[in-house]
Amino acid sequence: MYLLIIGGLTDMQLGGGSKDWENLSTRLWDLNRTSVFHSPSGYLGLHTMLLDEYQERLFVGGRDLVYSLSLDRVSENYRQIHWPSTPRQAEECTIKGRDADECANYIRVLHRYNRTHLLACGTGAFDPLCTFIRVGHPSEDYLFQLEWHKFERGRGRCPFDPSSSFISTLIGGELFAGLYNDYWGRDAAVLRTMGRMPHIRTEPDDERLLKEPKFVGSYMIPDNEDRDDNKVYFFFTEKALEAETGAHAIYARVGRVCVNDMGGQRMLVNKWSTFLKTRLICSVPGMNGIDTHFDELEDVFLLQTRDNKNPVIFGLFNTTSNIFRGYAICVYHIASIRAAFNGPYAHKEGPEYHWSLYEGKVPYPRPGSCASKVNGGLYGSTKDYPDEAVRFARSHPLMYQPIKPVHKRPILVKTDGKYKLKQIAVDRVEAEDGQYDVLFIGTDNGIVLKVITIYNQDTESMEEVILEEMQVFKVPVPIISMEISSKRQQLYVGSESAVAQVKFHQCDMYGTACADCCLARDPYCAWDGISCSRYYPTGMQAKRRFRRQDVRHGNAAQQCFGQQLIGEALEKTEERIVYGIEYNSTLLECTPRTLQAKVIWFVQRAHEARKEEGLSY
Ligand SMILES: *[C@@H]1O[C@H](CO)[C@@H](O)[C@H](O)[C@H]1NC(C)=O
Ligand SMILES: *[C@@H]1O[C@H](CO)[C@@H](O)[C@H](O)[C@H]1NC(C)=O
Ligand SMILES: *[C@@H]1O[C@H](CO)[C@@H](O)[C@H](O)[C@H]1NC(C)=O
Ligand SMILES: *[C@@H]1O[C@H](CO)[C@@H](O)[C@H](O)[C@H]1NC(C)=O
Repeated sequence: MYLLIIGGLTDMQLGGGSKDWENLSTRLWDLNRTSVFHSPSGYLGLHTMLLDEYQERLFVGGRDLVYSLSLDRVSENYRQIHWPSTPRQAEECTIKGRDADECANYIRVLHRYNRTHLLACGTGAFDPLCTFIRVGHPSEDYLFQLEWHKFERGRGRCPFDPSSSFISTLIGGELFAGLYNDYWGRDAAVLRTMGRMPHIRTEPDDERLLKEPKFVGSYMIPDNEDRDDNKVYFFFTEKALEAETGAHAIYARVGRVCVNDMGGQRMLVNKWSTFLKTRLICSVPGMNGIDTHFDELEDVFLLQTRDNKNPVIFGLFNTTSNIFRGYAICVYHIASIRAAFNGPYAHKEGPEYHWSLYEGKVPYPRPGSCASKVNGGLYGSTKDYPDEAVRFARSHPLMYQPIKPVHKRPILVKTDGKYKLKQIAVDRVEAEDGQYDVLFIGTDNGIVLKVITIYNQDTESMEEVILEEMQVFKVPVPIISMEISSKRQQLYVGSESAVAQVKFHQCDMYGTACADCCLARDPYCAWDGISCSRYYPTGMQAKRRFRRQDVRHGNAAQQCFGQQLIGEALEKTEERIVYGIEYNSTLLECTPRTLQAKVIWFVQRAHEARKEEGLSY
């Protein structure tokens, strides 16, 4: 019996469906594409990461430790600061009945504060503390020192509980945070602290503002050139008061406040006077016209574009339904978020009424708008806003219109139950046939999926192409944090015990054949006449002539026509003779180079010239 293995175009394989992926994954190490940092103490207790392109470091906050890692190679040349809770803190914490583990100091805040310092806060055994860390350039031997004399109370800036949800962002020395701001984890709040402006927060115990929120992400996004109009957006999930179906409905939300909110003068004193929120929709049409909603926001990613006023927002959602399980990724334009906040308010007439469309007169200045020149410049501060406007703001925190995603549907839906999806990061790349957003999706078992999705205008459908399944951690651990550097083409991935970096692409792993390279559909890679190599939109002219890439269709036959496609493929075919015994089995193995490769088997029986396609197994 002969076997003809056509290597270039097709590959063959026996066994389960995920075998090929495992084989692809191991190459990450073989190809020197990754570097992994393991905490010398064995356990990291990672809670936050800060990618700092300026210092060329990745700062990592864990249990009793802060690390400064090299962006070039995370496993080398690291610095560390040991910062445990004090014996007194730890003792008080255990007396209150907490586990010793909870009474450690978990570093949850790391922000660049100024040119020389980071702001760092830790839970300090349920007694949060903040300080600064002095950081230096390579020329200063990566200086990394805690300022022991600069400790301050961390309440309002850092949660008490190491495991409670928390987000923060630092803007001009002001820390904006979404957190549970008390020992018992009951007081959910969005706050502004630290800087010169008054400390402002959401009204405590006001369920209309926040009801058992899970904070997921926060970003400052400018509206226009007027800095007084800058707003901070918060992404979270919460119990939805306006939901009429079921009292336990969870909704994904986006909320926002003006950066320069000073609170009200007679009402809402030191409380947000510009807080608004609305629902973030991510759903698929279901049978009998009822949409299936993905309401549990797991992660959010802000993709910056050339215009910093118009980033693109990617949300990774889970379902809350017991019947339908799955994940979806939805994309939102900031313009549609702004439109919802500029649209009608939701209104509740009284305790017995439902939230409904508010059709009455809206006071001036419009609640939710900032005290800025763009808004007429009539008011220098929200404290000058008329009582009527502040009163309206207090009773109308919810917008009537939810925010729908681009194309009104997810760009990706996963219901196979293979993984839990945890984290998302996105890189926008130029390819020969257009622009692609490459999604890096962190799972609960140490794998990062590299995926592109292609929208088909005619059928209004999404095609999803899994380019790679990258096993970044050899053990199946949940990925809890991801940072991305497009500049370095590196993804930094954090788990509880390690931090790994992975290069976005490794084109040579697709082999040297034109067909393999095209079939891979990897927008980072193109066939350059000799091998599969990194694609640059403005590459050298000489190489450009030979460049072959087809991300949209992966049509290797067309792209590689004239590249002696078949001949070349045959030339590269590895022919192997495998002896088998009659009525016994023999394992035939072959690893495809890309996830896009199709497996075709040919059988040629003894004394027959005919090769038969389609061996069944
Ligand atoms: C792996 O890459 C690093 C730089 O990225 C280099 O210093 C090192 O020598 C490489 N190791 C091997 C085995 O190629
Ligand atoms: C940065 O902030 C720290 C902490 O407030 C301060 O000690 C330091 O002088 C500041 N550095 C610069 C360059 O302003
Ligand atoms: C996603 O939702 C399901 C059902 O509500 C839940 O069992 C699961 O834990 C959620 N996944 C994550 C990662 O939270
Ligand atoms: C069948 O093949 C396996 C190995 O492929 C061998 O160990 C075994 O002895 C063979 N059985 C017979 C009956 O030849």
